[in-house]
Amino acid sequence: MPTNIENKSIVVTGAGRGIGAEIARGLAADGARLTVADLSGEAAEKVAAEIRGAGGAAVGVAVDVRQRESVRAMIDRTVQEHGRLDVIFNNAGVAQTKPFLDITEDDWHFVNDVNALGVMICMQEAIRRMQAQGGGGKVVNTASIAGKQGYEPLAHYSASKFAVVALTQAAARAFGKDRINVNAICPGVVATDMWKVIDGGFREHGLTSRENEAFDTFAGIAVLGRPSTPQDLVGVARFLASADSDFMTGQSLLVDGGMVFA
Ligand SMILES: NC(=O)c1ccc[n+]([C@@H]2O[C@H](COP(=O)([O-])OP(=O)(O)OC[C@H]3O[C@@H](n4cnc5c(N)ncnc54)[C@H](O)[C@@H]3O)[C@@H](O)[C@H]2O)c1
Repeated sequence: MPTNIENKSIVVTGAGRGIGAEIARGLAADGARLTVADLSGEAAEKVAAEIRGAGGAAVGVAVDVRQRESVRAMIDRTVQEHGRLDVIFNNAGVAQTKPFLDITEDDWHFVNDVNALGVMICMQEAIRRMQAQGGGGKVVNTASIAGKQGYEPLAHYSASKFAVVALTQAAARAFGKDRINVNAICPGVVATDMWKVIDGGFREHGLTSRENEAFDTFAGIAVLGRPSTPQDLVGVARFLASADSDFMTGQSLLVDGGMVFA
């Protein structure tokens, strides 16, 4: 079905797997032209090749969102391939489970350098490009329910996601005049490799004993009665990338099956 994102040039970071890969696949199926970007260039190219195999348009790019030069190269490549940059999904992220008092400075940097600093760098470089080319644009960040509430033992992760919400609000205020909309998606408990890391961390620190216990316990809070799949995030991603959300900015939308009501 034709949508108003057809032919839009869209970057998704952290799209080598998980939520980002599913968003990239979904938007490509709608006719958008994708830059599938990930720290693993191999994983990114695999997803891009799969999209091309299904008749879509996609290029795979290696990026480290913590490195400004790398982010600039990703955006340059996007413009080279697709002519311009219309939408960026700043989705790349890492997680770590650590009891509050055990979090070290290195742990803080490991999580916040990707989730907060990386998002800021990608926002800055994408917005500069959107301003230069004119015609507005859309920035969609991946925050989390942990961007709305602090979860122990994910304090540094929660802090990084509160930062994403703050960056979303501040940039929405700054760039509304350029018709650049800035919003965020806040997923709940999504069955991806990231949750395997979080669940493993709970066990490692003696907080749970059984595999998937933390995953099941958290997911059990969702009033819709099941954990999320990456596919659950595609609808809101499509909405935020499309003209249907043109009058919405500065919002961080909870798409969590009903875990946090805010
Ligand atoms: N899985 C969940 O339950 C959940 C819930 C809320 C929010 N989120 C957020 O959603 C986003 C995607 O998570 P996911 O579950 O798909 O995780 P995932 O671990 O499956 O995928 C994350 C991807 O990001 C990439 N990445 C990591 N560091 C990077 C860097 N420096 N530069 C570029 N790419 C990098 C990884 O290589 C990986 O492919 C993250 O921001 C995460 O914090 C996930």
